[in-house]
Amino acid sequence: MPMNTGEQAIRADLLIEDASELITLAADIPGNGAAGPRVGSSMRNLAIISGGSVAAFDGRIVAIGKTHEVRGKVKLTSNAQVIDAKGKVVLPGFVDSHTHLVFAGSREEEFIQRAEGKTYLEILGSGGGILSTVRATRDATHSHLLALGLKNLDIMMCHGTTTVEVKSGYGLSVDEELKILRVIRDLDKFHPVDVVSTFMGAHAVPAEYAGDTEGYVQHVIDDQLPAVKEENLAEFCDVFCEKGVFSVGQSRRILEAGLALGLLPRIHADEMGSLGGAELAAEIGAVSAEHLLYASEDGIRKMAEAGVTAMLLPATSFTLGLGRYADARAFIQAGCPVALATDFNPGTSPTLSMQFVMNAAALGMKLHPAEIISATTVNAAHGLNRGNLIGSLEVGKVADMVVVNTDTYLRIPYKLGINIVDKVIKRGRLVVSGGRLIMS
Ligand code: NIG
Ligand code: FE
Repeated sequence: MPMNTGEQAIRADLLIEDASELITLAADIPGNGAAGPRVGSSMRNLAIISGGSVAAFDGRIVAIGKTHEVRGKVKLTSNAQVIDAKGKVVLPGFVDSHTHLVFAGSREEEFIQRAEGKTYLEILGSGGGILSTVRATRDATHSHLLALGLKNLDIMMCHGTTTVEVKSGYGLSVDEELKILRVIRDLDKFHPVDVVSTFMGAHAVPAEYAGDTEGYVQHVIDDQLPAVKEENLAEFCDVFCEKGVFSVGQSRRILEAGLALGLLPRIHADEMGSLGGAELAAEIGAVSAEHLLYASEDGIRKMAEAGVTAMLLPATSFTLGLGRYADARAFIQAGCPVALATDFNPGTSPTLSMQFVMNAAALGMKLHPAEIISATTVNAAHGLNRGNLIGSLEVGKVADMVVVNTDTYLRIPYKLGINIVDKVIKRGRLVVSGGRLIMS
């Protein structure tokens, strides 16, 4: 097609053209303020271009708009990849903003225990749960954990995920936490998916400190945190603030100690009971608070005022059979940014699929498909402090995209239990096609 005369052509090495719906989630929408996460009714505004195309060069988006506009603007390089997206939806790569991806072993027996009536905290209290994964993970080598992690990232990517947050927390000693965090660092290095690292030494009290939670908290603050900082292995610090695990006071001390070293706070809060974790998140200016099934009204309001992202994990509610989901609607109505993530871990959420999370959010939380798309892309990106780079399709942003086998986004959370991702583009490179990895 001829170029517009007088205009400088934009070079492109990737062109996805003619999508039925190109879901941009562009920042510039009325009533949402500047370039932040989508809040309130803005979550339903996906800034869709029908019959849209997007072009990238060297991993970044260089043009986006109606197909004829983009075609008129760009000049393809000789080796450019052109993808026909007719009849398909194209949207930003999914951002899985909360996982515990690095562990060894498996915990299928807990499905049975829970079916027989044991609760999650009872299993943990009797030395199982997280602590059984700690034993298996301590026994595993760096290379074994790395191999497992890479395989899991492959599966996530085939389901549309292009950025993943990963927490430590199955080591619970200086050496073992460092081992996990080095695996997280290497996953980022060796896999196309971008990996964001969170230190979570305060995930449980290890057997060596049984009955001495205070002693373990001090160990996390005095020994683990400085060692993590020394090697610069984490960007965030997280704590499991829950009755019988770490109290609000202990969580505050750990998160403040992390913050003093430059690790930004996040918190597993109010999951099994209302402890005041949401309020703490607001008070210390946490980037996000997670789970939040029992967050109080006051806590929700304070989180909204402080701009803390509510990171909601419906796959966990589903797996634990809690008969309850976080009140996503209350967070949205309060104006709190809401994100959704897998919480992938061997105990409470053995799923690697953000599509399953979307199913659970639609059915369990009664969210609208547009709210679900906002929560798994742009809001999740902001919840990881990466809203300027990923989560929406705009010129200058990283070319992380998913092509889905449907012509309307409404069908994405509706299709249950199957992978409807056709292609994944990571940093401008096709890495998944036909739902399968492309070997290169
Ligand atoms: O987010 N709640 C604490 N941590 C994880 C579960 C980890 C595990 O059970 O291994 C969660 O659900
Ligand atoms: Fe978690």
